[in-house]
Amino acid sequence: MDWTRKDLLDIESLSPLEIQTLLNCAQYFKKVCLSARKHAPLLQGCTVANFFVEPSTRTRTSFELAAKHLGATVVNLSAEGSSLKKGETLKDTVLNLQALQTDVLVMRHSASGAPQFVAERVTSAVLNGGDGAHEHPTQGFLDALTILDKKNSFAGVKVTILGDILYSRVARSNIWLLTKMGAHVTLCGPPTLVPLSFEKMGCHVSYEVEEAIAEADFVNLLRIQHERQRKSAFPSLSEYTAFFGLTKERVRLMKPGATIMHPGPINRGVEIDSEIADCECSVILDQVTNGLAVRMAALYLVTGHSPAKLKSALEAMGFDLS
Ligand code: CP
Repeated sequence: MDWTRKDLLDIESLSPLEIQTLLNCAQYFKKVCLSARKHAPLLQGCTVANFFVEPSTRTRTSFELAAKHLGATVVNLSAEGSSLKKGETLKDTVLNLQALQTDVLVMRHSASGAPQFVAERVTSAVLNGGDGAHEHPTQGFLDALTILDKKNSFAGVKVTILGDILYSRVARSNIWLLTKMGAHVTLCGPPTLVPLSFEKMGCHVSYEVEEAIAEADFVNLLRIQHERQRKSAFPSLSEYTAFFGLTKERVRLMKPGATIMHPGPINRGVEIDSEIADCECSVILDQVTNGLAVRMAALYLVTGHSPAKLKSALEAMGFDLS
């Protein structure tokens, strides 16, 4: 299929075919990222603005590298260094970026819906790098690509997402993607952070961590999103760790071959034991690597390039995609 969307704002509105299309492109781009050359200049002449109003290490850096690997010109703008600090509105800021002929605006914002608001007002493509507690679509895609590294398809794969679900955009993007693609998703955490209403999204809610991790093929951990919680959802961090942290004892309950994931940033000793974060069954840094491939795919597609032509274009550049 061809990709017809100007923007990538969420996973909720994507069809399974669109999800598969982006993942297929990301699998090709992963070969490019891991090659010695790394560069496939398919976006020469494009300008990408990275506009991050909230802190980021992985998303911002990987979007910048992805754009550079594709030969685009990249500019970075943060809230601190922009005229937002002088009272300029979000709308005026993005209209100014558009006036500078940016083709793609990658944005992260603390307000849910901010990328949608911007996408309706600019002709540039808008890529959501995380908006409030709403969605973080490229994180959902990179988590999915990490699952595909281990499994041939999503059908019947059991994924447990453990932690602060309520305030997590990563959880929402994962749930939409995985349920659309046929995986079984279980959510676990304190009831204050995992309301039963999430079952309407097609997943199962459990408050028993031992039960939730025992059958999982993948356990995806989420940190406590303190920046979005208006009041504490549990008595103390140590109590959270005791009841819901992935400790060494709990890892022993996981089935053999199960994989531990985390979108980062990790809070060692809170939601995950520090040694477990670095153990052989953890793919936390593989997720980061996959983020580069996913963001190359997202940039390629929203700039109007054909997914059907990607393989031959990369082969013509000499990349081995076998
Ligand atoms: N996972 C993630 O979004 O990390 P950053 O906040 O560092 O971008």
